[in-house]
Amino acid sequence: MPATVIVGLQWGDEGKGKTTDFLAEQVAMAVRYQGGDNAGHTVVLGDEVFKLRLTPSGVLYPHIACIIGPGVVVNPATLIGELDMLTSRGIDTAKVRVSRNAHVIMPYHVALDRAMETRLDGEKVGTTNRGIGPTYADRASRLGLRMEDLLDETTFRHRLARVLPDKNTLLATMPGTSPFDAEPLVAQAMAWGERLRPHLADTTWLVQDALRRGDHVILEGAQGTLLDIDHGSYPYVTSSSPIAGGACTGGGIGPLQVDEVIGVMKAYTTRVGSGPYPTELTDEIGSGIAERGHEFGTVTGRPRRVGWFDAVALRFAVAVNSVSSIMLNKIDILSGIDEIQLCVAYDIDEQRVDRWPSSAEVLARARPVYERFPGWSEPINGVRTLAELPENARRYVTALEVAAGVPIVLVSVGPERTQTIERAYRPMRHRPTVATG
Ligand code: IMP
Repeated sequence: MPATVIVGLQWGDEGKGKTTDFLAEQVAMAVRYQGGDNAGHTVVLGDEVFKLRLTPSGVLYPHIACIIGPGVVVNPATLIGELDMLTSRGIDTAKVRVSRNAHVIMPYHVALDRAMETRLDGEKVGTTNRGIGPTYADRASRLGLRMEDLLDETTFRHRLARVLPDKNTLLATMPGTSPFDAEPLVAQAMAWGERLRPHLADTTWLVQDALRRGDHVILEGAQGTLLDIDHGSYPYVTSSSPIAGGACTGGGIGPLQVDEVIGVMKAYTTRVGSGPYPTELTDEIGSGIAERGHEFGTVTGRPRRVGWFDAVALRFAVAVNSVSSIMLNKIDILSGIDEIQLCVAYDIDEQRVDRWPSSAEVLARARPVYERFPGWSEPINGVRTLAELPENARRYVTALEVAAGVPIVLVSVGPERTQTIERAYRPMRHRPTVATG
């Protein structure tokens, strides 16, 4: 049974939750490997809509053990709220496990994220204001607080005392902020620890044991490749590694334990926050896509920027993630558009470029070179095989597949699990069987 990484190939919000949901029946464990409550998965299950930020969407299935790995930054208040919400809706959360090593997003991280964005003014990253960057910064500086620290008051007090004066000094330089007192933070942290104690574990061994048993483990990335701290257009990125390699560091597996990397992409692109976006649409075609596609942030409610599909970015994302197959989402949203454009290259400083530039400054100068495709008018939500798709939609899917160079094995034509076209072929790297016992 494989370890499958599910990774976003664009700027996040590609519909990774649906991919996990679609594979759920064959899965024994779902692992979230990076990011925090900046992410939002929407899963539609019959009449019910679940919005999850931290817990892997596999939690909706009683047979799936859900893991929040050491690469995730956890706002305990969000996690507790999510566990309570799920419990109140009849979902069993007993199998949710959170790495003892995952870092805690403290209230001062959230305050700093907001204040730093305000200070950047016109240069804003457009963060989700969840404290993600400051928490990862503390992790890298070895000044972070980890989930296991919530279980021991003495350790927590000691670690907090090392950082709080510096946080307050910094906050004092930023307008609209107030300092934090240690005592209320300690009291809050101990209450979080008490509530979350049964969920904390050394998750790396849980994942390793599952793989040794031969269980199918999926590792879910949040955000997307183009927001990766190393591979996105810095500084307009998040502070973690959404790429498939992040599944190893943040989930607790080695590169040779990954059998399959499913890349997830929409039939168009969206981006939340600032940063260069060569194929952005600011006309009524863009607003039509945004409206039909409900392109508003799950976490912030902000309208997402919308654009044509970018095959330059896709080729980069396929390479950097070693994608083995693709799920294409939301192609139904393009129904009714007369002519669809697909960006196949950029013009940068009068040069034709077909490789994704790593520099945000260079990307900002990129002018898209489009290939044009006639659209289709019929709704396709009821279609269940590629052969039933209108010919022009099939042509567009084929063009995306050719650009990717790997097969598109799942095509989503609506939000529900059943609204999916499945192709039989699922390429997978061979992994030799590991001896058990
Ligand atoms: P942060 O992750 O909150 O620090 O935000 C950094 C950048 O990543 C901003 O442009 C955000 O809009 C973007 N971002 C973070 N999480 C998501 C997500 O789940 N979907 C889309 N964009 C995101």
